[in-house]
Amino acid sequence: MHTIVLATQKGGSGKSTLAIGLALAAIEAGHTVRLIETDSQGTLSNWQSRRVYAEPIVDPVYVAGEIEQRLQSLSASGVTLAIIDTAGDIGAATTAAIRCADLCLIPARPTIADIEATASTLHLIRSNDTPFAFVLNQTPILGQRINNAATALCDEGTPDSAGVLAQPFIVMRNDHQDALSAGLAVSEYAPAGKSADEVRGLWQWVEARLDAGLTADEQPIVGDLPASPDILSAMFLKPPAETAAAAS
Ligand SMILES: Nc1ncnc2c1ncn2[C@@H]1O[C@H](COP(=O)(O)OP(=O)(O)OP(=O)(O)O)[C@@H](O)[C@H]1O
Ligand SMILES: [Mg+2]
Repeated sequence: MHTIVLATQKGGSGKSTLAIGLALAAIEAGHTVRLIETDSQGTLSNWQSRRVYAEPIVDPVYVAGEIEQRLQSLSASGVTLAIIDTAGDIGAATTAAIRCADLCLIPARPTIADIEATASTLHLIRSNDTPFAFVLNQTPILGQRINNAATALCDEGTPDSAGVLAQPFIVMRNDHQDALSAGLAVSEYAPAGKSADEVRGLWQWVEARLDAGLTADEQPIVGDLPASPDILSAMFLKPPAETAAAAS
Protein backbone atom coordinates (compact mmCIF):
# COMPACT_ATOMS: atom_id res chain seq x y z
CA MET A 1 0.00 0.00 0.00
CA HIS A 2 1.17 3.51 -0.78
CA THR A 3 0.31 6.41 1.53
CA ILE A 4 0.18 9.98 0.38
CA VAL A 5 -0.53 12.98 2.56
CA LEU A 6 -1.82 16.43 1.60
CA ALA A 7 -0.27 18.99 3.92
CA THR A 8 0.39 22.70 4.19
CA GLN A 9 -0.24 25.16 6.92
CA LYS A 10 -2.01 27.49 4.51
CA GLY A 11 -5.79 27.13 4.80
CA GLY A 12 -7.83 26.96 1.62
CA SER A 13 -4.98 25.94 -0.66
CA GLY A 14 -6.83 22.81 -1.78
CA LYS A 15 -5.72 19.89 0.44
CA SER A 16 -9.20 18.40 0.81
CA THR A 17 -10.25 19.10 -2.78
CA LEU A 18 -7.13 17.47 -4.18
CA ALA A 19 -7.40 14.53 -1.77
CA ILE A 20 -10.89 13.81 -3.12
CA GLY A 21 -9.89 14.38 -6.74
CA LEU A 22 -6.86 12.11 -6.48
CA ALA A 23 -8.85 9.42 -4.65
CA LEU A 24 -11.37 9.11 -7.46
CA ALA A 25 -8.73 9.34 -10.18
CA ALA A 26 -6.85 6.49 -8.47
CA ILE A 27 -10.05 4.42 -8.17
CA GLU A 28 -10.67 4.94 -11.91
CA ALA A 29 -7.13 3.65 -12.46
CA GLY A 30 -7.91 0.46 -10.53
CA HIS A 31 -6.79 1.20 -6.97
CA THR A 32 -8.59 0.36 -3.75
CA VAL A 33 -8.53 3.68 -1.96
CA ARG A 34 -9.22 4.86 1.58
CA LEU A 35 -9.39 8.53 2.52
CA ILE A 36 -8.14 9.34 6.01
CA GLU A 37 -9.21 12.61 7.56
CA THR A 38 -7.06 14.00 10.38
CA ASP A 39 -8.68 17.45 10.15
CA SER A 40 -11.50 17.78 12.69
CA GLN A 41 -12.98 20.54 10.52
CA GLY A 42 -14.47 17.52 8.73
CA THR A 43 -14.43 18.63 5.08
CA LEU A 44 -14.13 15.03 3.85
CA SER A 45 -16.70 13.61 6.29
CA ASN A 46 -19.16 16.34 5.28
CA TRP A 47 -18.46 15.59 1.63
CA GLN A 48 -19.13 11.89 2.23
CA SER A 49 -22.44 12.65 3.95
CA ARG A 50 -23.59 14.45 0.76
CA ARG A 51 -22.47 11.52 -1.37
CA VAL A 52 -24.71 8.75 -2.68
CA TYR A 53 -21.85 6.29 -3.31
CA ALA A 54 -20.20 4.33 -0.51
CA GLU A 55 -16.70 4.48 -2.01
CA PRO A 56 -14.25 5.80 -1.17
CA ILE A 57 -14.77 5.39 2.56
CA VAL A 58 -13.67 8.38 4.63
CA ASP A 59 -11.97 7.29 7.84
CA PRO A 60 -11.75 10.07 10.46
CA VAL A 61 -8.62 9.57 12.61
CA TYR A 62 -8.10 12.63 14.78
CA VAL A 63 -5.73 11.07 17.33
CA ALA A 64 -2.13 11.23 16.14
CA GLY A 65 -1.15 8.01 17.89
CA GLU A 66 -3.76 5.99 15.97
CA ILE A 67 -2.67 6.91 12.44
CA GLU A 68 0.16 4.42 11.98
CA GLN A 69 -1.87 1.50 13.30
CA ARG A 70 -4.84 2.42 11.09
CA LEU A 71 -2.58 2.45 8.05
CA GLN A 72 -1.24 -0.98 8.96
CA SER A 73 -4.71 -2.45 9.22
CA LEU A 74 -5.79 -0.85 5.93
CA SER A 75 -2.77 -2.32 4.21
CA ALA A 76 -3.55 -5.76 5.64
CA SER A 77 -7.15 -5.47 4.44
CA GLY A 78 -6.15 -4.96 0.80
CA VAL A 79 -6.28 -1.17 0.44
CA THR A 80 -3.66 -0.18 -2.17
CA LEU A 81 -3.70 3.59 -1.61
CA ALA A 82 -4.34 5.64 1.52
CA ILE A 83 -4.74 9.40 1.07
CA ILE A 84 -4.50 11.49 4.24
CA ASP A 85 -6.08 14.95 4.33
CA THR A 86 -4.59 17.07 7.13
CA ALA A 87 -5.60 20.28 8.88
CA GLY A 88 -3.98 23.62 8.03
CA ASP A 89 -1.50 23.32 10.87
CA ILE A 90 1.60 21.43 11.84
CA GLY A 91 0.09 19.73 14.91
CA ALA A 92 0.57 16.19 16.17
CA ALA A 93 -1.76 14.50 13.66
CA THR A 94 -0.18 16.27 10.68
CA THR A 95 3.28 15.35 11.95
CA ALA A 96 2.29 11.70 12.41
CA ALA A 97 0.73 11.60 8.94
CA ILE A 98 3.86 13.06 7.35
CA ARG A 99 6.03 10.55 9.20
CA CYS A 100 3.98 7.62 7.82
CA ALA A 101 3.71 8.86 4.23
CA ASP A 102 5.54 7.67 1.13
CA LEU A 103 4.94 11.05 -0.48
CA CYS A 104 3.77 14.40 0.86
CA LEU A 105 1.96 16.71 -1.55
CA ILE A 106 2.08 20.40 -0.64
CA PRO A 107 -0.64 22.37 -2.42
CA ALA A 108 0.06 26.05 -3.03
CA ARG A 109 -1.83 28.74 -4.88
CA PRO A 110 0.40 30.91 -7.05
CA THR A 111 0.63 33.70 -4.48
CA ILE A 112 3.50 34.86 -2.32
CA ALA A 113 1.55 34.13 0.89
CA ASP A 114 0.92 30.52 -0.09
CA ILE A 115 4.51 29.96 -1.13
CA GLU A 116 5.91 31.57 2.03
CA ALA A 117 3.53 29.39 4.08
CA THR A 118 5.08 26.23 2.65
CA ALA A 119 8.28 26.87 4.64
CA SER A 120 7.16 25.44 7.99
CA THR A 121 5.51 22.44 6.38
CA LEU A 122 8.55 21.82 4.22
CA HIS A 123 10.77 21.99 7.28
CA LEU A 124 8.64 19.36 9.04
CA ILE A 125 8.57 17.15 5.96
CA ARG A 126 12.31 17.29 5.50
CA SER A 127 13.05 16.67 9.16
CA ASN A 128 11.06 13.43 8.77
CA ASP A 129 12.83 12.51 5.51
CA THR A 130 9.52 12.25 3.70
CA PRO A 131 9.66 12.63 -0.09
CA PHE A 132 7.53 15.53 -1.23
CA ALA A 133 6.22 17.52 -4.18
CA PHE A 134 4.49 20.87 -4.53
CA VAL A 135 1.17 21.02 -6.38
CA LEU A 136 0.30 24.38 -7.86
CA ASN A 137 -3.46 24.71 -7.42
CA GLN A 138 -6.08 27.31 -8.29
CA THR A 139 -3.86 28.78 -10.98
CA PRO A 140 -5.04 31.04 -13.76
CA ILE A 141 -5.14 29.36 -17.18
CA LEU A 142 -2.19 31.39 -18.42
CA GLY A 143 0.16 34.10 -17.23
CA GLN A 144 3.42 35.14 -15.66
CA ARG A 145 2.07 34.48 -12.15
CA ILE A 146 2.20 30.72 -12.80
CA ASN A 147 5.76 30.87 -14.12
CA ASN A 148 6.80 32.95 -11.11
CA ALA A 149 5.31 30.47 -8.69
CA ALA A 150 6.79 27.48 -10.52
CA THR A 151 10.19 29.11 -10.56
CA ALA A 152 9.97 29.96 -6.86
CA LEU A 153 8.96 26.43 -5.87
CA CYS A 154 11.37 24.70 -8.19
CA ASP A 155 14.59 26.15 -6.74
CA GLU A 156 14.82 29.14 -9.03
CA GLY A 157 14.00 27.28 -12.17
CA THR A 158 16.49 24.43 -12.17
CA PRO A 159 15.18 21.56 -14.31
CA ASP A 160 12.83 19.53 -12.15
CA SER A 161 14.67 16.21 -12.27
CA ALA A 162 14.10 15.86 -8.52
CA GLY A 163 10.33 15.81 -9.03
CA VAL A 164 9.74 18.79 -6.75
CA LEU A 165 6.90 20.27 -8.76
CA ALA A 166 3.98 18.00 -9.64
CA GLN A 167 2.41 18.21 -13.09
CA PRO A 168 0.10 19.41 -14.40
CA PHE A 169 -0.84 22.56 -12.49
CA ILE A 170 -4.49 22.56 -11.43
CA VAL A 171 -6.40 25.52 -12.82
CA MET A 172 -9.01 27.41 -10.79
CA ARG A 173 -12.36 26.21 -12.11
CA ASN A 174 -15.90 26.11 -10.73
CA ASP A 175 -16.11 22.36 -11.36
CA HIS A 176 -13.98 21.74 -8.26
CA GLN A 177 -16.34 23.74 -6.04
CA ASP A 178 -19.52 22.35 -7.61
CA ALA A 179 -18.25 18.78 -7.31
CA LEU A 180 -17.50 19.31 -3.62
CA SER A 181 -21.05 20.61 -3.02
CA ALA A 182 -22.57 17.66 -4.88
CA GLY A 183 -20.65 15.05 -2.89
CA LEU A 184 -18.71 14.12 -6.00
CA ALA A 185 -15.15 14.26 -7.24
CA VAL A 186 -14.44 16.44 -10.22
CA SER A 187 -13.97 13.36 -12.46
CA GLU A 188 -17.51 12.25 -11.52
CA TYR A 189 -19.08 15.71 -11.71
CA ALA A 190 -17.70 16.63 -15.14
CA PRO A 191 -15.92 13.51 -16.43
CA ALA A 192 -15.07 15.04 -19.82
CA GLY A 193 -14.03 18.42 -18.40
CA LYS A 194 -10.60 20.00 -18.23
CA SER A 195 -10.49 19.86 -14.44
CA ALA A 196 -11.06 16.11 -14.50
CA ASP A 197 -8.31 15.74 -17.10
CA GLU A 198 -5.88 17.71 -14.96
CA VAL A 199 -6.61 15.73 -11.81
CA ARG A 200 -6.23 12.43 -13.70
CA GLY A 201 -2.92 13.75 -15.05
CA LEU A 202 -1.88 14.69 -11.53
CA TRP A 203 -2.69 11.18 -10.31
CA GLN A 204 -0.56 9.69 -13.14
CA TRP A 205 2.31 11.97 -12.10
CA VAL A 206 1.92 10.96 -8.44
CA GLU A 207 1.76 7.26 -9.28
CA ALA A 208 4.89 7.49 -11.44
CA ARG A 209 6.62 9.38 -8.63
CA LEU A 210 5.65 6.69 -6.10
CA ASP A 211 6.80 3.93 -8.43
CA ALA A 212 10.12 5.71 -9.03
CA GLY A 213 10.78 5.56 -5.28
CA LEU A 214 12.62 8.90 -5.18
CA THR A 215 13.89 9.53 -1.65
CA ALA A 216 13.98 12.79 0.31
CA ASP A 217 17.79 12.88 -0.08
CA GLU A 218 17.39 13.05 -3.83
CA GLN A 219 15.37 16.28 -3.57
CA PRO A 220 17.92 19.06 -3.39
CA ILE A 221 16.26 22.15 -1.95
CA VAL A 222 18.51 24.30 0.19
CA GLY A 223 17.12 26.43 2.99
CA ASP A 224 13.65 26.56 4.49
CA LEU A 225 11.96 27.99 1.45
CA PRO A 226 12.35 26.84 -2.12
CA ALA A 227 13.55 30.36 -2.97
CA SER A 228 14.87 33.11 -0.67
CA PRO A 229 12.38 35.75 0.58
CA ASP A 230 14.11 38.41 -1.53
CA ILE A 231 13.82 36.38 -4.67
CA LEU A 232 10.21 35.59 -3.89
CA SER A 233 9.14 39.17 -3.40
CA ALA A 234 11.03 40.28 -6.50
CA MET A 235 9.20 37.64 -8.48
CA PHE A 236 5.76 38.69 -7.38
CA LEU A 237 6.41 42.42 -7.23
CA LYS A 238 4.03 44.28 -9.47
CA PRO A 239 3.76 48.05 -9.21
CA PRO A 240 0.42 49.31 -7.89
CA ALA A 241 -1.76 50.57 -10.76
CA GLU A 242 -1.23 54.27 -9.90
CA THR A 243 2.56 53.95 -9.77
CA ALA A 244 2.58 52.09 -13.06
CA ALA A 245 0.37 54.73 -14.70
CA ALA A 246 2.55 57.61 -13.42
CA ALA A 247 5.69 55.90 -14.67
CA SER A 248 4.34 55.47 -18.19
N1 LIG B 1 -8.56 24.19 -8.47
C1 LIG B 1 -9.59 24.75 -7.84
N2 LIG B 1 -10.47 25.53 -8.52
C2 LIG B 1 -11.50 26.14 -7.90
N3 LIG B 1 -11.76 26.02 -6.60
C3 LIG B 1 -10.92 25.26 -5.85
C4 LIG B 1 -9.81 24.58 -6.43
N4 LIG B 1 -9.17 23.92 -5.44
C5 LIG B 1 -9.85 24.17 -4.31
N5 LIG B 1 -10.90 24.97 -4.56
C6 LIG B 1 -11.88 25.50 -3.60
O1 LIG B 1 -11.18 26.26 -2.62
C7 LIG B 1 -11.78 26.08 -1.35
C8 LIG B 1 -10.73 25.59 -0.37
O2 LIG B 1 -10.32 24.29 -0.78
P1 LIG B 1 -10.06 23.15 0.28
O3 LIG B 1 -11.13 23.08 1.30
O4 LIG B 1 -9.78 21.92 -0.50
O5 LIG B 1 -8.71 23.71 0.94
P2 LIG B 1 -7.93 23.13 2.22
O6 LIG B 1 -6.49 23.34 1.96
O7 LIG B 1 -8.39 21.74 2.47
O8 LIG B 1 -8.43 24.10 3.37
P3 LIG B 1 -8.31 23.86 4.96
O9 LIG B 1 -6.89 24.17 5.33
O10 LIG B 1 -9.29 24.84 5.53
O11 LIG B 1 -8.66 22.43 5.22
C9 LIG B 1 -12.95 25.13 -1.54
O12 LIG B 1 -14.12 25.87 -1.69
C10 LIG B 1 -12.60 24.41 -2.83
O13 LIG B 1 -13.73 23.96 -3.53
MG1 LIG C 1 -9.22 20.85 4.16
